[in-house]
Amino acid sequence: MKEEGISTDNSRTEDQQKQLQLQKSGKIPRHIAVIMDGNGRWARNRGSVRIMGHKAGVDSVRDITEACAEIGVKHLTLYAFSTENWGRPKGEISALMKLLVQSLRSETRKLDENDIRLSTIGELDRLPPTCRQELEYAKELTSGNQRMELCLALSYSGRWDLNQAMNSIAQKVKNGDLGPEDITQDAISRHLATSRMPDPDLIVRTSGELRLSNFLLWQAAYSELYVTDTFWPDFRRDELYKAIDSFQQRERRFGKIPVTPELEESTI
Ligand code: FPP
Repeated sequence: MKEEGISTDNSRTEDQQKQLQLQKSGKIPRHIAVIMDGNGRWARNRGSVRIMGHKAGVDSVRDITEACAEIGVKHLTLYAFSTENWGRPKGEISALMKLLVQSLRSETRKLDENDIRLSTIGELDRLPPTCRQELEYAKELTSGNQRMELCLALSYSGRWDLNQAMNSIAQKVKNGDLGPEDITQDAISRHLATSRMPDPDLIVRTSGELRLSNFLLWQAAYSELYVTDTFWPDFRRDELYKAIDSFQQRERRFGKIPVTPELEESTI
């Protein structure tokens, strides 16, 4: 028992050192968004059913949320259920919704103790009433928390988001509250479901697929992308640190180039 205690303390110290190293060596992304993928394949590789992969995925959600808060990330957005996921078999959808309710019931207090605010983006009207109630309760309870925002994308897709923003802008133009000249890029960003958050600095995708899958399409314009072959249930804090380390090695130019005196003088 004693040895176990010591090794836990040691791994905690080791973890704090890794966090400190990242904090010292570069910028910590303000907003990380994650496409959590590979739960089904993780389960299949173990000869198990898909829901077991989703259940193991909840442990990764907990670990990544805690590590992000500890390291100083201010917004973490998790793609938990896409608009397209409604096309999955009914049994898997209802198991996922039950898992969401159970997770909210067991984790909300911890989120609150860790000063983390829960928020959501997506078409929540489509979720079962118990899910909506648990989400409302958790959002209300944690609404004053400041350390980090955990945003769950539920029944979300980037095209849905752009569509609802356009509808809302069109309605304002119709009412005379906005003129066509007011439809700027800033105005569009303000009408998206993510309006209260900065655009993601880093988008992580697990399980090796090289696509955005309809996630944060407008907001991803200048996000750095990090794809790992690791399946989501195996993506724990050490994998997150690798993603942040990779982010810190990148030069973010936002389409520009560093201006040197030679370049200022040159004509091309
Ligand atoms: C993708 O893996 C994962 C999902 C569609 C669901 C993600 C849900 C969780 C991690 C659990 C619940 C979440 C919260 C926030 C409590 P996949 O099923 O597409 O895997 P595959 O591509 O290997 O089939």
